[in-house]
Amino acid sequence: MILVTSANGNQGTRLVPKLLEAGHHVRACVQSSASADRLRARGVEDVVVGDLADPAVVARVVRDIESVYHVGPTIHPVERAIGFAMVDAARAAGVGHFVFSSVLHAITTDLVQHEIKRDVEEHLLSSGLEFTILQPSNYMLPRRLKPVFEEGVFRLSWSLDRHQSMVDLEDITDVAALVLGAPERHAAATYELVGPGRFTAHDIGRVLTTVLGREIGVERVKSEGFVDARHDDRDSDTRQYQARVVGAIQARYSSHDFLGNPNVLTYLLGRSPTTFEDFVRREYAAFQAGN
Ligand SMILES: NC(=O)c1ccc[n+]([C@@H]2O[C@H](COP(=O)([O-])OP(=O)(O)OC[C@H]3O[C@@H](n4cnc5c(N)ncnc54)[C@H](OP(=O)(O)O)[C@@H]3O)[C@@H](O)[C@H]2O)c1
Repeated sequence: MILVTSANGNQGTRLVPKLLEAGHHVRACVQSSASADRLRARGVEDVVVGDLADPAVVARVVRDIESVYHVGPTIHPVERAIGFAMVDAARAAGVGHFVFSSVLHAITTDLVQHEIKRDVEEHLLSSGLEFTILQPSNYMLPRRLKPVFEEGVFRLSWSLDRHQSMVDLEDITDVAALVLGAPERHAAATYELVGPGRFTAHDIGRVLTTVLGREIGVERVKSEGFVDARHDDRDSDTRQYQARVVGAIQARYSSHDFLGNPNVLTYLLGRSPTTFEDFVRREYAAFQAGN
């Protein structure tokens, strides 16, 4: 059985159906019963609802598991402790293979969430577990396109002139499914997952204008709306932590480009990775179809 954490998130919602389709037994871990219901409706029989910050939950989710796919929830205040606990519990439970979804350039210590993943990678490397580490670049996120389709503007919370490399979540989860399907073939590997090209916000605006056939503006905003919207019930420590993470992202991506190379992803997929233009075309077609 394969355990997927953050199972109703950006990666999980795409990965879990691929694993089920390939005939794997999946255990999904989420925090809310609403997400658990959604996963059960999609055919996941074994769903654990719990807070991964609780070591008892971590010990429970790894029991009788062959392979783990661990994704740390976005900007979680104890992401590092959760990662360490997942590795330790997996080792204690005799898990055969641990796949850690890290991030491109985890060595960049002025990005808080990168430094945490660097530490988790090191902990995993030192654990004696069989492992694979995936290092995705910035996700091509459908939610970033919603204001584009609805209002004709692309918004970003860092410099509009800095370049970034991006990767399609379908490509990341295609690779995750490949690795989980043949873990021994990918043992002890660390893979950078990066789509083709490098884009400033202005470049992104140009692609959007071409695909949508109307002028799309680009606009710098003060903060990432999703952080505010998704966490209204945050305590003040969490609020402060998340403000620190978002501030570090804005500072780093405003003073440096964030770039990677698509060679590894191309090799793993055995095809060309999804381009940003392909991604926009797919998402725009889904938007127009009302999905
Ligand atoms: N955004 C990017 O461009 C990017 C790029 C590279 C790497 N990353 C990294 O990728 C990770 C996020 O991946 P993602 O976007 O796929 O995940 P995500 O969407 O943030 O994951 C959300 C899922 O995590 C669950 N969850 C949240 N807190 C939990 C807790 N305390 N205990 C148990 N489950 C919990 C949620 O459960 P409910 O559904 O029940 O709420 C939900 O199913 C982060 O570590 C981020 O740094 C992000």
